[in-house]
Amino acid sequence: MEIIIQPTQQAATEVAARLIATLLRDKPDAVLGLATGSTPLSLYQTLISMELDWSKVKTFNLDEYIGLPREHSQSYHSFMWENLFRHINIRKENIHIPDGNAKDIPRICEEYEKMIAASGGIDLQVLGIGTDGHIGFNEHTSSLASRTRIKTLTKRTRMDNARFFGSEEAVPFHVITMGIGTIMEARTNLLLAFGANKAAAIAEAVEGPIASSNPASVLQMHRSVKVCLDDPAASKLQRAEYFRWVYDNKPDWQTF
Ligand code: PGA
Repeated sequence: MEIIIQPTQQAATEVAARLIATLLRDKPDAVLGLATGSTPLSLYQTLISMELDWSKVKTFNLDEYIGLPREHSQSYHSFMWENLFRHINIRKENIHIPDGNAKDIPRICEEYEKMIAASGGIDLQVLGIGTDGHIGFNEHTSSLASRTRIKTLTKRTRMDNARFFGSEEAVPFHVITMGIGTIMEARTNLLLAFGANKAAAIAEAVEGPIASSNPASVLQMHRSVKVCLDDPAASKLQRAEYFRWVYDNKPDWQTF
């Protein structure tokens, strides 16, 4: 894992955006895995301002609520169109988001996996992290080998997301999410976390044991992970000074 700690959210976001921009320039038909929530908002704004060419890019979103109409302001379909897709030259047919209103959820989950495989696999997956360590909506005790499937949100995640819905009661109980096994097959994972409320989950994920009690900790087993943090999100890392030292002393050819 490469832990990149920057003084501000904006600085950490710019590092992440440069990584994605480099990928899209080197591989114009790259396959990106995308995330929703408050964390990637500044990333999407930065990517929009870079005016990159998305005409050949394919995207797969991590997750979607079950039962929310697509047009609902908090559906991840709406989120992605509002915050990224309508601002870039991506082709509609290259966008994939799980269908939370499908009649046969297991079937569309299986199809989602097949579409990812048929696209050649995900080159870079953007991830946020829940305060309980979830990635995608893989809540604690999710199988570390899981695939795209239905999950039930924890009380804590529903509370965390109540701010988007106006009340906790309005947050759906069920979601479709890529599995941890699916995420682990992305060629690179790019995890972003900002703010002190993520510090405990990040410390466990990066320095704790690999355990389904913090699903993000499985990323320690992935060969290409970058974790972009602002100072507050890094504040509980015991080795923060080491991570800063590594980043500051990268050989020129390794910088991005
Ligand atoms: P947030 O959510 O970006 O809104 O904090 C992160 C997550 O739940 O994965």
